[in-house]
Amino acid sequence: MDRILIEGGHRLNGSISISGAKNSALKLQAAALLTDQPVELTNMPRLADTRFLAHLLARLGAEVEEGPGPRMSIHAGRIDEAYAPYDLVRKMRASFNVLGPLVAREGQARVSLPGGCAIGARPVDLHLKALEALGAQIELSEGYVEAKAPQGGLVGGEIELAFASVGATEHAMMTATLARGETVIDNAAREPEIADLAECLVAMGAQIEGAGTSTIRIQGQARLGGVSYPVVPDRIETGTYAMAVAATGGDVVLTQVRYDHNKALWRALNEAGVTVTQEGENVRITRNGSRLTAVDIETQPFPGFATDLQAQFMALMSLAEGASVIRETIFENRFMHAPELTRLGADITVNGNEAVVRGVPTLRGAPVMATDLRASVSLVIAGLAAEGQTEVNRVYHLDRGFERLEAKLAGCGARIERKSE
Ligand code: UD1
Repeated sequence: MDRILIEGGHRLNGSISISGAKNSALKLQAAALLTDQPVELTNMPRLADTRFLAHLLARLGAEVEEGPGPRMSIHAGRIDEAYAPYDLVRKMRASFNVLGPLVAREGQARVSLPGGCAIGARPVDLHLKALEALGAQIELSEGYVEAKAPQGGLVGGEIELAFASVGATEHAMMTATLARGETVIDNAAREPEIADLAECLVAMGAQIEGAGTSTIRIQGQARLGGVSYPVVPDRIETGTYAMAVAATGGDVVLTQVRYDHNKALWRALNEAGVTVTQEGENVRITRNGSRLTAVDIETQPFPGFATDLQAQFMALMSLAEGASVIRETIFENRFMHAPELTRLGADITVNGNEAVVRGVPTLRGAPVMATDLRASVSLVIAGLAAEGQTEVNRVYHLDRGFERLEAKLAGCGARIERKSE
């Protein structure tokens, strides 16, 4: 199993190019099932998760090709069997999003209930209710969802989400593009990945209004066509490297990013004493000398502070002057990084969905274990800032969502390497 070794205490200087967003790419890949025409995704991140979904799409009958460069071509000219087995869904929750497109296109599908990061229960009830509102008949049997469209296909409907779930919004929106008549999604999530998916669907011939707001209206079409579409820059990768620079100090330009997708983080970093400057399509992160100041945050749906940046922010706050209160409101059980950060010398007390981080002047390197995707990168950030050597184990979590992490950081002067054995 691979490990990452970090010799901490080196400032970061230089530039890092940001990849396409994993969370967008995965939905765009699923959307490619909505058409029998070729779909080409550019600015595509090269990650374990996107490869994994590509594998599932191929298994369903699509021709999938990765590269050359950051691109993926998907041609689902025909679907062999609308069946996604347990093995291919359990490892990654986003694979569940093939259910709606398969039912819309084939009239029925059988998809395993998902797995994914161990960050709480993460049910799919909202996804299923949304598909039911489009006329699908849903049955659960032996860990599988069996969904059937009515005769004549799915029909538009009113979907009121009890919680603004990102996944359920995307799932409902893409499925409704092929449901007859109008669909309205109320209390829709507003994350940038949703607007990105809508933009791609519209380029494929869908009619969608309001993506990025709480009410999305879709006029169903008989069919969608092919497209070549660039994946939006990854705001989580952007925020993660910004916090790495904030932790070590230094001056780094993050290139090809969307400044407006990380405003809540930029505010928190400013308050903590980090300089964030927009330079066209780039963002420059600078921290020189002085110690960080503690800042409180609470995770919220977009445009609030992203839950996927919470672990990294906790790593940063463990070095700040003063105490920071971090509240997690999106997922239960998303503080698994806290005990690992404590191994590096952080002072963190967790009580329910609230963590109090009392900043210490220095962290000290130690062996630690990654528990989920975003938690693992918080350990890398802490390791970069710590004195001495940190060894991060179970890095397969990192490979799910960060492309060439060691190379990108090493390019800015970090002493970081991967050991494979
Ligand atoms: C997506 C992102 C993930 C991010 C999250 C919140 C992808 C691949 N993943 O996950 O990185 O952390 O948005 O920004 O895009 N819920 C239900 N029932 C449902 C669906 C969700 O109760 O049917 C609950 C979940 O358990 C969780 C909350 O809603 O507590 C948020 O989940 P959701 O917004 O759906 O996140 P994901 O789409 O899974």
